[in-house]
Amino acid sequence: MPGLDVGVDVGIDLGTSTVKICVPERGVVLNEPAIVAVDKDTDSIVAIGSDAYRMLGRTSDRIAAVYPLHDGVISDYELTEAMLTTFVKLVCGSKMLMPRVVVCVPIGITEVERRAVVDALRAAGARKVCLVEEAIAAALGAGLDIAQPYGSLICDIGGGTTDIGVITLNGLAVKKSIKVAGNSFDAAIEKYIRKNHNLIIGPRTAEDIKKEIGCVFMRDRLMTGIVRGRDGRNGMPRQIEVTSDEMLEALEEPSIYICRAVQSVLEETPPELVGDLYERGMVLTGGSAMLYGMDKLLAKKTRLSVVVAHDPQACVVLGTGEAIGYIDAQTDVEFATSPLDIYSY
Ligand SMILES: Nc1ncnc2c1ncn2[C@@H]1O[C@H](COP(=O)(O)OP(=O)(O)O)[C@@H](O)[C@H]1O
Ligand SMILES: [Mg+2]
Repeated sequence: MPGLDVGVDVGIDLGTSTVKICVPERGVVLNEPAIVAVDKDTDSIVAIGSDAYRMLGRTSDRIAAVYPLHDGVISDYELTEAMLTTFVKLVCGSKMLMPRVVVCVPIGITEVERRAVVDALRAAGARKVCLVEEAIAAALGAGLDIAQPYGSLICDIGGGTTDIGVITLNGLAVKKSIKVAGNSFDAAIEKYIRKNHNLIIGPRTAEDIKKEIGCVFMRDRLMTGIVRGRDGRNGMPRQIEVTSDEMLEALEEPSIYICRAVQSVLEETPPELVGDLYERGMVLTGGSAMLYGMDKLLAKKTRLSVVVAHDPQACVVLGTGEAIGYIDAQTDVEFATSPLDIYSY
């Protein structure tokens, strides 16, 4: 990929499962799994991003493929820094003047965790780092007008966390983050198949079948798919056919957790804003918003109208790109303060 112009600004979605980078006017320029493969003997990095994803579940004793972010926050600082440095270099080239960065952070992150994100990006070459809450970035990316004094409900279902926020006047009136999202769906499928078919499958297989036939609301037409794994009794390879109805059963528990979290946000929302939400409905973003029936299930449980944003997995990163406009326009916003938290040095 060619390097960008000197001094260009970038928006980064530092997700638990993927890192995405966006440049205004050019859109999403990088979308890589947030994985690093490490040689345990020498402590050196052997692969980053999609190269490391290919190794997931297939590594030897010596190599570990790890996600340096967990539940939306940095769990391994050094690896996160190395990963970000690689990605920022890929996008920007090795230019002297490094970009200003808007990066999103999940709801409920601590000051220490925020600091870690800022430090990792500074080390990766950013000259100025601005933080924006993930739910706000998701709303911006989904095209909502967040500056107005009326409530919008956004629910971002990613890999590690589901972040729910009621947005008004550039801020969050009510917010909630739970550690139930795409990874929980994968784990639920793994568990279901082990329990009901005595077949042990890996996380990638679980994710693949989830995307292929998974659902949290009954499909109009029964679908089937093949999963391969290891027999729980004799350890031999085996393949079975599973149905979408089985997926529905497997995914019931995590999907209900998400519905409950949205319900609890609605319960905490001040009455005027709840009125707005019933008028305007809820917008779903994040990769797991594409799981079949997520919108239908949430609509049934909350009685709100629910729409899945266009290209839901890109909303957060596009929103961080959108938020770059706020770096220089601090006082331009008519009704409210800026949604950005700016860390300048
Ligand atoms: N078509 C799909 N159906 C169901 N889940 C999907 C689909 N596409 C992606 N996902 C899930 O979306 C999650 C990643 O979403 P993303 O918003 O990128 O997460 P994060 O922001 O946490 O990195 C993963 O758990 C992935 O399995
Ligand atoms: Mg995300």
